[in-house]
Amino acid sequence: MRVDFNVPLEGSRIVDDTRIREALPTIRALVDQGARVILMTHLGRPDGTVDEGFRTAPLAARLAELLGRPVRHLDDSVGPPVEQAISQMRDGDVVMLENVRFHPGETRNDPEFAKQLASLGDVFVNDAFGTAHRAHASTVGVAAYLPAVAGLLMEREISTLGRILTDPPHPLVAILGGSKISTKIGVIRNLLPRVDHLCIGGAMACTFFKADGLEVGRSLVEDDHLGTAKELTALAASLRHPIHLPLDAVVAAGAKPGVATRVVNVRAIPADQRVLDIGPMTVERFLMIADGAGAVVWNGPLGVYEVPPFDQGTASLARGLAGTAAQTIVGGGDLVAALQELGLAGHMSFVSTGGGATLEFLEGKTLPGLAALRDKTG
Ligand code: 3PG
Repeated sequence: MRVDFNVPLEGSRIVDDTRIREALPTIRALVDQGARVILMTHLGRPDGTVDEGFRTAPLAARLAELLGRPVRHLDDSVGPPVEQAISQMRDGDVVMLENVRFHPGETRNDPEFAKQLASLGDVFVNDAFGTAHRAHASTVGVAAYLPAVAGLLMEREISTLGRILTDPPHPLVAILGGSKISTKIGVIRNLLPRVDHLCIGGAMACTFFKADGLEVGRSLVEDDHLGTAKELTALAASLRHPIHLPLDAVVAAGAKPGVATRVVNVRAIPADQRVLDIGPMTVERFLMIADGAGAVVWNGPLGVYEVPPFDQGTASLARGLAGTAAQTIVGGGDLVAALQELGLAGHMSFVSTGGGATLEFLEGKTLPGLAALRDKTG
């Protein structure tokens, strides 16, 4: 079973175990049916070599606590000692392999490495939605050698996010944040025809402001994407699906704790300041737009959430959305991390476990990890 236990760590301490918790239903369902469950995951980007900081032992320990049963951790993901340990498993046992990215064959999707992994089991269950955008040996390669199926988390992610693309409840409101428009172009293009309203916050709004001729001071702007911003604005106008940009912004000399801040109208951004968060009027405006929506899909934080008080726009919007009747679907590593930090993730209807995978799914791209499963069932 491929899981995505690529969780944030501080040393060996797991900062956020959401991805482990979300895989529990599939693991429990398999254990309850007497399966011998061999879990494989990556952790970090160790680049094909053993990196002590990215061993999966702490993940196995946390999983054992959550499952309430032992999870044996193995020191490698393939090879004779692994095969030996697996041959000793009993029905209902759970084993976790070492980080698959310790082998260079993983990210290269090397058929030999995939075959070695596949030889350990009888059926491949892929529950790693967060890694479905990677064509690696443990996400795609293995599926060539075994019957391959999606796990329950994978199924939930696809059905929830898929509905936004195929049969969304209306009015559908999308809220996009983050620092760079360049990483969101595909999502904006794919969502614009489907949404009733698109709200944009985060530093990427400044690229739209500058494209519109506004002063943006020392804000982060992608000058090479001013044309993209104009093109997306024109696309929205032609579809009559408006893009809503912030009305006011929190500005400061820089994103430093304790720095003096001011709320200004976006038409009066001082030349020596940077836009670091959306302002209270914008929060109100976005909440008014979301009021009465069938669903709100939100990707990306609206300010520099890592440095308070620039997390307040994101926090206020999340608090407001928690009180609406709309289905609230949030995704993207940074936004989810921000909401976890603020204790607000639990107030959303659905929190995607994907970062890049969620974004690529919403862009309408085919995720290789999903395609590999689809190929198996025709
Ligand atoms: C993620 O955290 O987005 C996934 O686990 C994928 O990790 P990667 O970007 O290192 O492939």
